[in-house]
Amino acid sequence: MASASAINIDLSGATYCVLSGASQGIGRAIAVELSKHLGPKSLMLVLARNKEELAKTADLCKSDNVNIVFESMDLSKASAADMLSVIQSSLKGYNVTDFATSVIFHNVGSLGNLSVETERMENVEEMRHYYDLNVFNVISLNTQFLKVFEEVEDRVVIVNVTSLCAIKPMSGMASYCSGKAAREMYFKVLAEEKKHIRVLNYSPGPVETSMIDYVLAETVNANLREVFTSFRSQGALLKPEITAKKCLKVLLQGKFSPGEHVDYFDDE
Ligand SMILES: NC(=O)c1ccc[n+]([C@@H]2O[C@H](COP(=O)([O-])OP(=O)(O)OC[C@H]3O[C@@H](n4cnc5c(N)ncnc54)[C@H](OP(=O)(O)O)[C@@H]3O)[C@@H](O)[C@H]2O)c1
Repeated sequence: MASASAINIDLSGATYCVLSGASQGIGRAIAVELSKHLGPKSLMLVLARNKEELAKTADLCKSDNVNIVFESMDLSKASAADMLSVIQSSLKGYNVTDFATSVIFHNVGSLGNLSVETERMENVEEMRHYYDLNVFNVISLNTQFLKVFEEVEDRVVIVNVTSLCAIKPMSGMASYCSGKAAREMYFKVLAEEKKHIRVLNYSPGPVETSMIDYVLAETVNANLREVFTSFRSQGALLKPEITAKKCLKVLLQGKFSPGEHVDYFDDE
C-alpha cells in the first residue's frame, strides 16, 4: 500500500454517502460500519432492489448523527435520469455545500451465469445484461454522483468494491473477472485524471455471503467448486462485518494511491 503522502479521510463532519447493494452481505455491513463514523448532520442513501431488507439496513444504521434514506432500484435497468433523480431526491432540503465530504460506495455486484463454460459463452444479450449491472451502470451512477457534487468535487471520495478476480483469473468466472477488471480500470483512469478526488478500489477477500451459496449451487466448473468448498470447510471465509471494518480502516487512514487496489489481506 502506498503510504508516504497519506492524507486521512475525515468523515467526522457532515457527510453525504451513497451505497449500492446495501440490502445484504458486504454492502449492509459497510453501511452499518460507515454509520458509526459519520459526523452530525450526515445523510446516507442506500440502494438495492429488496425494499424490506433495505429498511432493515437503515434500521441497523440508525444514529443521532445520520439521516438514512433507502430506495428500491434495479440498477441493471435504471437509466441515467433515474439515478440522477434518486440522488437529487435524497438531497431535498440540503445543499451540496452542507457536506464536508461526499462518499459513494459502489458495492453492487453479481456473478452472472455460472452454468455455461467459458469456451461456450455466446449469449450476448445475457452478457450485456451482466455488464449493464456490474460495469455500465456503475459508471453511470458514478457520473450522476459527480454531476451533483461538481461544485465541491474536491470533497468527493469514491470506493469501488472490487475483487481479487479483477487482477487474477479465476476458472469458471469469466463474466465476473472481466467485469471486475473493467470496472476497476474505469476507476483507476478516473483517479488518474482527477487527482483531487480520492478513489479506492477495495477488495474484500472471500466473504460468507449469498454469493458463495450461489457459486456452489450454480457452477459447472470443478476447480471453482473445489476452491469455495475448501474455503468453507476450512473456515476461511470472512464475516461481512470483519471486511467492512477493514474497508473503513483503509479508507479513513487514506494510505492508498489514486485508484489503488487494496486487498483485505494486504497487511493482515
Ligand atoms: N462475497 C465475496 O466473497 C466477495 C469477494 C470479493 C468481492 N465481492 C464483491 O462485494 C460486493 C458485494 O457482494 P456480496 O458478497 O455482499 O453479495 P450479495 O450478498 O449477493 O449482495 C449483492 C448486493 O447487490 C444488490 N444487487 C444485486 N443485483 C442488483 C440489482 N439488479 N439492482 C440493485 N441492486 C442489486 C443486492 O440487493 P438486491 O438483491 O436487494 O437487489 C445485494 O444488496 C460485490 O461487488 C462483490 O462482487 C464479494
